Amino acid sequence: MRPFKTPGLDKTMCGIVGYVGHRPALGILLGGLRRLEYRGYDSSGVVLLNGKGLEVEKAPGKLSALEERLKSHPLSGRIGLGHTRWATHGGVTERNAHPHLSCDRKIAVVHNGIIENYAELRQGLRRHTFSSGTDTEVLAHLIEACYRKLGGHPLRAVTMALERVRGSFALGVVNADYPDLLVAARVNCPLVIGLGEGENFLASDIAALLPHTRRVVPLEEGETAKIDPSGVSIFGPGFARVKRRPLEIAWKADKALKGGYRHFMLKEIHEQAQTVAAEVQGRDGGLDDVRLPGNLQRVVVAACGTAWHAGLVAKTAIEELAKLPVEAGLASELRYGDTPFDRRTLTVALSQSGETADTLAALRLAREAGSPTLAITNVRGSTLAREADQVLFMRAGLEVGVAATKTYTSQVMNALFLALHLGRARGTLPRARFLELLKGFRRLPGQVERVLERTTEIEKVARKHARGYDFMYIGRRYNLATAYEGALKMKEISYLHAEGYGAGEMKHGPLALVDGRLACIAVAPRGRVTEKMVSNIQEIRARGGRVIAVATAGDRLVASVADRVLEIPACEEMFSPVLAVVPLQLLAYHAAVSLGRDVDRPRNLAKSVTVE
Ligand code: F6R
Repeated sequence: MRPFKTPGLDKTMCGIVGYVGHRPALGILLGGLRRLEYRGYDSSGVVLLNGKGLEVEKAPGKLSALEERLKSHPLSGRIGLGHTRWATHGGVTERNAHPHLSCDRKIAVVHNGIIENYAELRQGLRRHTFSSGTDTEVLAHLIEACYRKLGGHPLRAVTMALERVRGSFALGVVNADYPDLLVAARVNCPLVIGLGEGENFLASDIAALLPHTRRVVPLEEGETAKIDPSGVSIFGPGFARVKRRPLEIAWKADKALKGGYRHFMLKEIHEQAQTVAAEVQGRDGGLDDVRLPGNLQRVVVAACGTAWHAGLVAKTAIEELAKLPVEAGLASELRYGDTPFDRRTLTVALSQSGETADTLAALRLAREAGSPTLAITNVRGSTLAREADQVLFMRAGLEVGVAATKTYTSQVMNALFLALHLGRARGTLPRARFLELLKGFRRLPGQVERVLERTTEIEKVARKHARGYDFMYIGRRYNLATAYEGALKMKEISYLHAEGYGAGEMKHGPLALVDGRLACIAVAPRGRVTEKMVSNIQEIRARGGRVIAVATAGDRLVASVADRVLEIPACEEMFSPVLAVVPLQLLAYHAAVSLGRDVDRPRNLAKSVTVE
């Protein structure tokens, strides 16, 4: 077998789940899909194999639509696949929902990814009848053709088919002739196998497996797997057998439940006192197992979205404590740019999921240029964790809400620890100051708790402003990131217009937006730039804008100029992004709820952005 072609990292964002074992598969597949729904919620479907052959049910829209159909028409079987779709090729319709079947209805495929040469492949399958407008369906027919040509061999039929495919994929295949066999394959899209007793599982990510097993084996690039109830065999390119030790995952299954909260997002906002505490624990002595390279000249941070905002905090902190120049780059720009990477540049790839396509591409670019790489990620076994030279694992646990909350504060905490230890390693941070900062870190969990106690007050502010206002979030230095992050939270879950801006930039244009319909959120805790923030607040007030300030408890100066203050406990300026973002997460959450938005599944978004 030739190695699979891996043209790039362009991927789509769907969720796959598979089961083979001794239990009825339907409930397990639907449970898995529920945990994967954040990866896409345009349509969903399942296929089960039973005495009648392959039986399929699919529905456009959210998973609840599929569940509704299955209530009146449940499917039986102890082997099956499920899929939740974020549409790329082909509209959001029932016929385009996965699974897709071969002509003889003996082979079913679920797929996450893009088949780039699907049009050409489809041409070569002219005798086959296609029933959807998707690229994926071509796989079902191609595997069918290979299966016939080989006179059997379900695994080889898949690998033979994939030799002709260009693109990226994670796929699961069932074959009606083999009632105990799931076949899986991956190129550039995540796929993990879960190991059980007399049963085994397949999923796009660990979250879907947690209720059943914490022993997982991630598939790597170009690998295929044969999964039956008694075992799993993995094959690399050339059909070579691969032995891989399973990972033991510490995440708890109950993290995938709402635990009495109305939304995952609210639960995850409230978990931050614990997750911040988890980040602090045992971090005094060093950065887990990470060994920081010596002789560095600069640092490049590569990240997207919320993770990029944490990257901005990393930049400010590393420049302050380690006196190293830092470029905090959007991974989508870095990957097509000419940023020089070399042996003396530490590249830090920040990504909660560890699967973001652009961040992975930037990491690969840096590695090719000889730059030492450090991943900061929440997911063990993720592609980023496997490909980076070293990994600092966040301790946020599973995050289900599409909008990142606890993983943002965890990213910021890790960014700060990195700065602290770089400072020590380079001799730019005196020991006494280091110890003082460590004390500040230890106070953070209790301080987060105190901010969370103010939920009712923040809810009132949110309700008052959710209708009739645009939002402008401003900040400086450490809290420029907080302003960006606050605005992103507001727009992504409430769909209100919100901008994040450097407070010092207001006079260079955005001040023209200020009128009585603009609510300005000024992130102004105590620090080097508080007085500058106060001037910016006054300039906005003087032009008729409303200002809600996030300020240090007891700060009379800020209170005297703002319309309203949301207080956070006093802390070092460097720690303030951890505290100041919490009221902004709550503000966005309550605004979205009061507008009736689907907070955990905002429109057009998916949690893992595996498409560039
Ligand atoms: C916003 C959000 C996204 C992610 C971004 C990067 O709430 O979650 O902006 O931060 O898609 O994701 P990761 O960190 O998984 O690389």
